[in-house]
Parts: sequence; structure tokens; C-alpha cells
Amino acid sequence: EEIEKGGYDHFMLKEIYEQPKAIQDTYRGRLLADEGLIKMAGIDQNLERFLNADRIIIVACGTSWHAGLVAEYIFEDLTRIPVEVEYASEFRYRNPVITEKDVLIAISQSGETADTLAAIKLAKEKGAFVFGVCNVVGSSIARETHAGAYTHAGPEIGVASTKAFTTQITVLTLMALKLAQEKGTINKTQLHEFLVEMEAIPKKVEKSLEYNALVEQISDVYKDSSNCLYLGRGYNFPVALEGALKLKEISYIHAEGYPAAEMKHGPIALIDEQMPVIVIATRKGHYEKVVSNIQEIKSRKARIIAIVTEGDEVVKNLADHVIEVPEVMEALTPLLTTIPLQLLSYHIAVMRGCNVDQPRNLAKSVTVE
Ligand code: G6P
Repeated sequence: EEIEKGGYDHFMLKEIYEQPKAIQDTYRGRLLADEGLIKMAGIDQNLERFLNADRIIIVACGTSWHAGLVAEYIFEDLTRIPVEVEYASEFRYRNPVITEKDVLIAISQSGETADTLAAIKLAKEKGAFVFGVCNVVGSSIARETHAGAYTHAGPEIGVASTKAFTTQITVLTLMALKLAQEKGTINKTQLHEFLVEMEAIPKKVEKSLEYNALVEQISDVYKDSSNCLYLGRGYNFPVALEGALKLKEISYIHAEGYPAAEMKHGPIALIDEQMPVIVIATRKGHYEKVVSNIQEIKSRKARIIAIVTEGDEVVKNLADHVIEVPEVMEALTPLLTTIPLQLLSYHIAVMRGCNVDQPRNLAKSVTVE
């Protein structure tokens, strides 16, 4: 096991650090920047089903469901196909409307999650076209779906999902770009810009990992907190949910993720000097609005940890701590803003003496209801 950890203390940390390569492995052979296009066999072979789709339904559980939420933003933005994202466990039991004109995308790292598998079977019975986004090759979900795309993240051992999440977002982004390219909802210049920015992501993830020592210092300040609030907007709202999930999974600190503006409808009542608030405030996308959310939090004396774009001066003056990520187009920010949140939960859990790779009561894959 020590050898498998490759010199890292835990699988989770190793897997966090594998992300630049994992993301690259995910787009290799699919993203052809020189030719200005995306190639994905699973879509090419079933193009009519996708192009005739009235809507896309995404089903998943846990972290994979958060990747689905990010996908909702990017699919609707780029392809103009309506998207719904559902917890597989709710979808399968609520007598959902599914027709032959629906495309269902099931996202699952393990490819074995019982509820996701059941949702797939239900959608198939109703005639929908079912596409899988899995990491484990030959898994039940990979076999049960009509077509699919693997994430190629490599084995993920840590129970808390890290590289599976960022590679799922990568595949889903490629799918959205591919469909936008086929539908003509994106022009050549925009597509080219995306492809170039996507190819720069592994380097930018590496850069984000360089802030590890700073994140560790910040973790030391907040390791004894009882509660944490995570806020983000737009593409980074699902990242806030994922950051909170990571913290509660491995450190057992209660954490909640919220869309930043929704804070006024509840969580603001909880904010005081005891409550650290982690805010994703990258310069792209609703930046001014998030800054005003930060001002409101500050006036209630909470301590603020902000994830900002490199060089940001405005938030630096408001927040107690800032962690920078490189500049990137808005739709790709989740691939970077996720990194410090993974590291934060990791260090806090280690400092609290928790079993990071095998947290209590959790399983890597939930194969029974
Ligand atoms: C469990 C794992 C999570 C994972 C979820 C969905 O809860 O602990 O890390 O996100 O299952 O698993 P899947 O394999 O379907 O992505």
C-alpha cells in the first residue's frame, strides 16, 4: 500500500496531485485543437439521438451529481438543449416523465452505484437513449448504457472523490463542446478559444496545487470549527456544494454549500464570528455580486476564506485569507476552484486525526440501496 501511495501520506492527496495528468488523459485524443474540433466516438455514433433530443436528463449520486450540476450550466450555455439534473435515488422512484426523445446521461465514478443503475434501467424501459460517463472500465453502468465516454482518471482509492470529479467535468465539457459544434450553437472562433483554454488546464491545475502550503496554514486556523459555509454562484455554485461535501465527508465538520445570493434566505442567520465562510469569488461571472455578498458576510463579523483569480486586489482587502487560482474562462473555473477546496478538507481532516482515505460510515461505492 505504501508503494501504491507513491510517497504521499494518503491516497486522497496522491489523487489530488494526479489531477493535471488525469485531466490531460481525459481529453487526449478527443480534443483536437489544431483541427479545431472534438472527437467522441460515443457521440458520433449516436449523433441523431443527441441532435433530436428534447432535453437531457442527468442522473448521479454524491460528487458525481455535483459534476452533473456543473454540466447543466455548460450544456445549456453551449448547446441550448434544456437540461435537468436529478439525484438517481429520487428520479427512480418519482414516476418521472421520460420519452423516446430524451437523452439520459448517467455519471458514476465506480459504475456500480445501485440507484444510478436503477435510474438507467427505468429510462431504457421508457425508450430514452442512455449515455454513461464512468471511470471504471467494464463496470455495470458502462455495460448497461447504450453508449458512453470513460473519464480515464485511473483508479481512485480515496473514498472522497477528487480526480474523478474534475475528469467528469472535463468529459462533460467536451461533450457539450462536441454537441455545440455539431448543432452550430458555437462558432469556430469560440470553439477554438475553448480548446486552447482547455489544453492549458493541466498547467493551471498544477499552479493551483502550488498553493498547498498556504492552504495548510489556513487549515490550521480553522481545524477546530464546528460549522463552515461554502458559497459560490453560477458555475461555482456546484463547486461550493462539492467543497462542503468534501469537508463533511472526511473531517466530520458540518458544512453547507449554498448559492451565494441565496444566503439571504437562511444561512445568513447562522453567520457570526464563529462561522468561517468560504467564498468562491473568481473574476469571471457575477464577480461584483459576489463581492457584495462578501461585504455582507464581513459586516456580520464572519471570517472569510476567498478563492480568487490571481492578482485580485479587491477581495484581498475584504477577506481574511485569499487563495489564488489562475485566470481562466468562466466555464472552466470549476476545474481550478475545486483544487484548493479539496486541499482544505484534506489538511483539516489530517489535523483532526481523521481517517482520510476511509472515513467512518462511508463506502467508495454504494451498491445497495
Ligand atoms: C459514494 C462515494 C462518493 C461518490 C458517490 C457516487 O457516496 O463515497 O465519493 O461520489 O458514492 O459514486 P459513483 O461511483 O456513482 O460516482
